[in-house]
Amino acid sequence: MERQGWADPSIAKGYADGFEMATRLVARKLADEVAAGPNCKALDLCTGHGVVAAELVARGSDVTGLDFSEPMIELAQSAVPTARFVQGDAMAMEFPDDTFDAVTIGFGVPHFPDPERGLKEVTRVLKPGGRVAFSIWRGKGSEGAFGWLFDAVERLADPSISLPSGPDAHMLVDGGIAKPMVENAGFHNVRLIDVASELCVSDPQVLFDVFDGGAVRAASLLKRQPKERRDAIRADLATLVQAEANTDIRGYFVPAPSVVITALSKG
Ligand SMILES: C[S@@+](CC[C@H](N)C(=O)[O-])C[C@H]1O[C@@H](n2cnc3c(N)ncnc32)[C@H](O)[C@@H]1O
Repeated sequence: MERQGWADPSIAKGYADGFEMATRLVARKLADEVAAGPNCKALDLCTGHGVVAAELVARGSDVTGLDFSEPMIELAQSAVPTARFVQGDAMAMEFPDDTFDAVTIGFGVPHFPDPERGLKEVTRVLKPGGRVAFSIWRGKGSEGAFGWLFDAVERLADPSISLPSGPDAHMLVDGGIAKPMVENAGFHNVRLIDVASELCVSDPQVLFDVFDGGAVRAASLLKRQPKERRDAIRADLATLVQAEANTDIRGYFVPAPSVVITALSKG
């Protein structure tokens, strides 16, 4: 389902546009945490539209981006022409062992069918002592776009329609879950860092569209709702944006808090 969803050019573009500001803010933190610089051979997994790859290139690193979505690779290659982009599955990569100094994964781990196995594959391609940094949105219960969405869904969506099965997309913001999983995958010195990222929407009504048109799993939940329930969720999100978001001439700034997790490969 993930593979099919992200292969849709309109979802790829919807994500790139809708989450542009938030992903750029987090990309800087990912690049900081892997100490990206001129002597760093970096792999950006689940590279998407290339937002993290762009940040790594700006710091002088030698960058390879990998994604299984062809339209995402096209967006990334045109945004960051000096990086190399390859189509492939992060769960089973073709790179030899011990290839990279650093691996970044911007909002990709929650899409893995088995996050621990995906992170084991990361340790394989990292040199011993290499750094990983990956980001996760804060979800249910958080003050911001994802928390508001899941709260609205819980109150207003058809309860017989549920998220497709798969690992909880937000569970790794909890250090009690993230630390043992990352350590079991072959890392040490695991740290979790809060990042106060935010989205920008042109109109309060648009927050619904950001999820509906730029996501895969959350969107599948919204798309299967009857029209009146979709309208109710849209209105609920719009009320929160109107009440809570800061504004300026560019639009409404909606909190989209995230957590960056970093660790060193034991090799
Ligand atoms: C939410 S987007 C993140 C894009 C970007 N890294 C960012 O920071 O915003 C997730 C990306 O992961 C890709 N993806 C998900 N699972 C993958 C896998 N197993 N292998 C390769 N790419 C994957 C999707 O195609 C999509 O481009």
